[in-house]
Amino acid sequence: MKITFFATKKYDIDSFNAIKNDYPELEIEYWETELSPKTASYIADDCEAVCAFVSADVGAKVLEILHARGVKLVLMRCAGFNNVDLEKASELGIKVMRVPGYSPEAVAELAMTLAMGVNRHLHKAYIRVRENNYSLQGLTGRNFYQKTAGIVGTGKIGAAMARICHGFGMRVIAYDMYQNPSLDFVEYVTFDELLAQSDLISLHCPLMDSTYHLINLETINKMKDGVILVNTSRGGLIKTDDLIAGIRERKFFGVGLDVYEEETGNVFENREDDIMMHSTTARLLSFPNVMITSHQGFLTEEALEAISRTTLDNAMAFLKGETAGTELN
Ligand code: NAI
Repeated sequence: MKITFFATKKYDIDSFNAIKNDYPELEIEYWETELSPKTASYIADDCEAVCAFVSADVGAKVLEILHARGVKLVLMRCAGFNNVDLEKASELGIKVMRVPGYSPEAVAELAMTLAMGVNRHLHKAYIRVRENNYSLQGLTGRNFYQKTAGIVGTGKIGAAMARICHGFGMRVIAYDMYQNPSLDFVEYVTFDELLAQSDLISLHCPLMDSTYHLINLETINKMKDGVILVNTSRGGLIKTDDLIAGIRERKFFGVGLDVYEEETGNVFENREDDIMMHSTTARLLSFPNVMITSHQGFLTEEALEAISRTTLDNAMAFLKGETAGTELN
């Protein structure tokens, strides 16, 4: 089966090529370009599957083009699938599969890295020392020990983050519709209680209609003053304009973001001055207590290896007509 991989970077190619020989039935074509209505129609006539990432447009229009080109399978090489029109895919008979839990610790460790980074002002300290400035002025942080961590969503990644916070000696509270039985040290509370009590809030729920702009002016106002907010889940969970208003009002000690609302493709790699001038991400970057990374939560050797293996296993399961348990429709 021929699979066209969209938006492939060198690290993707390296990790897929490392295991490719284990899957002689699969032929991979790596494309640098992103999957979009413009690019979908260029796939080869004999291509039966496409592989896409979080930044792809897998909406109705793209699915219709893929369907017309004979594609039967969309392999998402990521956990999130808010960018896929699953209803349309089902209607067209296109199977969509994903990689549900490749390495929750990879994302959770980045969440804690961002929390610690903004807490101890690492981004400022690093630049200062490089410029031979050893001043400590403005670099005072706070102990996490004995503070309260609020985890929103205690699935795989949220649970890993809860364990890390527990290891730091924090009191860990959480909000989720379902309690994770493995987290006996976590106290489940209402969302409002979590907002009111947490010194660190880390978002780990998926982006859905019900979680879109979960963090907005109203919920920000319910947070403790001096809270640290971290989002490694999806940009749409936070209403960026309201976040900026909250930062201006000095609500936050620090904000760490691996994801942001404008994330279609990679805003940093494809930056154009004009876009950057007007983007809310650029406005966020102008605040000294905000640290932004470029959606790199998944980017560890272990996670990349697991993503490659599961993605190709998914393709093989589809080919053999087996159920992999990673199907979305
Ligand atoms: P998961 O499906 O294991 O857990 C999600 C949890 O959120 C579930 O327990 C669910 O009940 C809960 N939830 C749903 N709606 C909620 C709400 N309104 N409030 C509170 N909790 C709610 O998902 P997993 O693997 O932990 O991933 C979480 C998210 O992390 C993904 O949806 C994805 O968007 C993001 N992610 C980010 C990556 C990165 O590189 N930054 C990489 C992988 C995933």
